Amino acid sequence: MSQNQLPLPGQPHIARNGETLMVEQMSLEALAREHGTPLFVYSKQWMLDALAAYQRGFEGRDALICYAMKANSSLGILRVFAQAGCGFDIVSGGELARVLAVGADPAKIIFSGVGKTRAEMRQALAAGIGCFNVESEEELDVLSEVAAAAGQRAPVSIRINPNVDPKTHPYISTGLKGNKFGIAHDRAVQAYRHAASLPGLRVVGIDCHIGSQITEASPYMDALERVLDLVQAIEAAGVALHHIDFGGGLGIDYNGDTPPNADQLWRQLFARIDARGFGHRKFIIEPGRSLVGNAGVCVTEVLYTKPGEAKNFCIVDAAMNDLPRPAMYQAFHRIEPVSARGHGQAKDYDVVGPVCESGDWIGRDRLLDVRAGDLLAVLSAGAYCMSMASNYNTRNRAAEVLVSGNRATLIRRRETIEDQLRNELAGE
Ligand code: LLP
Repeated sequence: MSQNQLPLPGQPHIARNGETLMVEQMSLEALAREHGTPLFVYSKQWMLDALAAYQRGFEGRDALICYAMKANSSLGILRVFAQAGCGFDIVSGGELARVLAVGADPAKIIFSGVGKTRAEMRQALAAGIGCFNVESEEELDVLSEVAAAAGQRAPVSIRINPNVDPKTHPYISTGLKGNKFGIAHDRAVQAYRHAASLPGLRVVGIDCHIGSQITEASPYMDALERVLDLVQAIEAAGVALHHIDFGGGLGIDYNGDTPPNADQLWRQLFARIDARGFGHRKFIIEPGRSLVGNAGVCVTEVLYTKPGEAKNFCIVDAAMNDLPRPAMYQAFHRIEPVSARGHGQAKDYDVVGPVCESGDWIGRDRLLDVRAGDLLAVLSAGAYCMSMASNYNTRNRAAEVLVSGNRATLIRRRETIEDQLRNELAGE
């Protein structure tokens, strides 16, 4: 099947109404006219549907879904998940400040990451977060010291590295021996004994995360067995674990990818969990991409088309600073004309941005029927795009709109050059 015949990732909420690409009931053409380009547009209903699939998988269980906000940390997106009752997985003091700003329940916040500073630990203890996912023995010592100094006992999980191959891009696999994350499987029992002996800590759980954009069930099944083996070994050593945190969520459909549904995967995982006698435990997961990825598109205007010696280029007003995934991971995002009207002159193009780097491409070898002034939609742009956007080439970051039915709400104003220069000092 050719790419153009595949259903749009983001269906049914991102779809064509005749010639026009819509997000829910809002036309992207109208939104781009009103807010300019590049413009990120998100479907609220897509996010809630994606969340509902995890909720179905956890029905009747003691479970907490913590949205991994690194995927998209805009306040308007965080608010959707806070209102839906989610917890949050954070990785910095900045992310903590963001979720608190939308009224998240601190008890449902878990703090991941290999390099938490003492200041971040103090900030999170003062907020009363639910759990620190600790990634090294040295971090255990520092956290205990910081908590004890504040007269507290920090709730901790240790992130163990299950050494499972998630079969994804090397930059986003995290649970292999060679990755910087977690504590090695064979040091886990020792690390837990140590944690339990520290005065400023209260052991509450175990945590693992094997990678991102995983599209098969088998790495999860393998990781589950390894984690449950460890739970048994740690509890046999006298340290009780209240919850099991199973890390990030599923991959999404970028280009005909077929990850399992969250509810099916979790039914399969719970069959094993029940069989091994762990069905009564509390489970936490930290999905990011799968809750927002296909809810979002980035609308960009074609500035120029030009024939090159080897290829044709379609130069658009979005760039690697807005959409960093192709440059960073050779990632594929589908690119669709906003209006399917066409000009009867389809050609193969490399779609590129204005940044002065050959790595600034958004899509390669795409068959498009476009002219300057047309709008294109870069699909599957809800996750790890705006949250990874930069000001490279002193480009202002894009605006963002959240759509719910026939209502569109601006959730981020387009950045201005004044915003960018605010903290700079030219010196003498
Ligand atoms: N929990 C932890 C500890 C993580 O490190 C991550 C992602 C998640 C949860 C969320 O995983 P997800 O459900 O989104 O797969 N920028 C890359 C992805 C980096 C993922 C890093 N960790 C990309 O654009 O593909």
